[in-house]
Amino acid sequence: MKKAAFIFCSALVMGTVLSSVTGCGSLRQGGNVPALKKVFRDEFQVGVAFGTPMLEADQEPARQLVARQFNACTPENEMKWSVIHPEPDRYNFEPADAVVAFAEKHGMEITGHTLVWHLQTPDWVFLDDQGGPASREVVVRRLRDHIHTVMGRYKGRVTGWDVVNEALSNLPGGYLRDSPWRRAIGDDYLVLAYQFAREADPEAKLYYNDFNLEKPDKLASMLRLMDELAAQGIHLDAVGNQGHSHIDYPPAKALDNAIATLSGRGLKINISEIDLSLYSFGDKENRYPNGASREILATQAERYAELFKVFGKHHQHIDRVTFWGVHDGLSWLNFLSEFERPDYPLLFDRDCRPKPAFYALIP
Ligand code: XIL
Repeated sequence: MKKAAFIFCSALVMGTVLSSVTGCGSLRQGGNVPALKKVFRDEFQVGVAFGTPMLEADQEPARQLVARQFNACTPENEMKWSVIHPEPDRYNFEPADAVVAFAEKHGMEITGHTLVWHLQTPDWVFLDDQGGPASREVVVRRLRDHIHTVMGRYKGRVTGWDVVNEALSNLPGGYLRDSPWRRAIGDDYLVLAYQFAREADPEAKLYYNDFNLEKPDKLASMLRLMDELAAQGIHLDAVGNQGHSHIDYPPAKALDNAIATLSGRGLKINISEIDLSLYSFGDKENRYPNGASREILATQAERYAELFKVFGKHHQHIDRVTFWGVHDGLSWLNFLSEFERPDYPLLFDRDCRPKPAFYALIP
C-alpha cells in the first residue's frame, strides 16, 4: 500500500473507533472517502452488480454506498432466464424492474445480464411436451421470443447486453462448450442469438462475456469465435472478461497480454465481474475463521492495485470495470455450495467500510 494511503487508512481506523462513540455513521461507512466513479472518471466507468438482496430493508448502508461510489450496474441474477422467464408463458419482470429502477434513480448505466447461458436456465427451454428433447425449431423460436421480450422491455434503458455468457470450453484444445443450447440448436446458436438481439434493439451494445480469457487456449478460442461471428456479419461491441480473481491468480502479465491481444482486434474489453477471493482456486479450507487478517488484506490490496494498473494502462480500450457485488457480505463467493466458508473479495467490508484494497486504488 502507498504511504499516503496507509496514513489515510489509519485515520479511518481511528474514525471508526470514534464513530462507534459519536455515532458518526457516514465516516464509518465510507461517506468521507473519494468516490471510485470520480477517481476513474477519465479512464472507465466503475460498475457494480447487485440484485434484490441489496434492496432489502437492512441494506440501506449498501444502497448509500452504491449511490455514492458507482456509475454502472449489472443486475446480478434478476435478468437471468430462470428468474425473468421461469415458465413458458410467464415472465417475471418485477425483480429486474426493481433493480433497474434503483440504478436509474442513481444515474447508473445498466448492462443486461444475460440472455443465453448454460446455467440458470430452466429445463423446459430444451424440452418438448412429452419431456423429450425439443426440436431445433422450437428452441430457436423460444430463444428469439425470449430475446425480443426481455430486450424489448428494457429498450433505451439497458444500454448493452451480455448476449451470450460462457460459451467457450475450458478444456485444453476445446472450442465451444458442450452446452444445452449447442445440443439443442447446433453451433449457430451464437450467431442466432446475436441476430435476434440486433433485431430486438438496434441501438443496444452487444457483448460476449466469459472468464479466464487470459489463459492462452481460451484466448485463442475467443479470437476464433470473433472471427467466426464476423464472417457471419456479427460484430461485437465489446468482450467482457469477467475478472473473477484470486489471491494468487491471474498474473497481471497474462491479463495485460489478453487485453492487448483483444483490443488489438479493435474491440473494447470490459472487466465485467471483478472480485478477488482470498483463496486459491479450488481451495476448500476455511482459512480465516476469525475474519481476514491484516496481512492477507494487504496482499489483496496489492493484487487489486496490480490488476488496476493493467486496466489503467489499457483504459482507452476499457469502457467499464464492474465489481461483482457491493460489499463482502453480499458476495456470491460466500454462498457457493462447494465452499462452506466466508470470503472477502470486494473493496468494502461487511459494514460497508472501505478495505485496504479500496485505498490501494485511489490516488
Ligand atoms: C452468480 C451470482 O452472483 C450468484 O448469486 C448466483 O447464485 C450464481 O451466479 N459468472 C457469471 C455470473 O456470469 O452470472 C455469476 O453470478 C458468477 C459467475
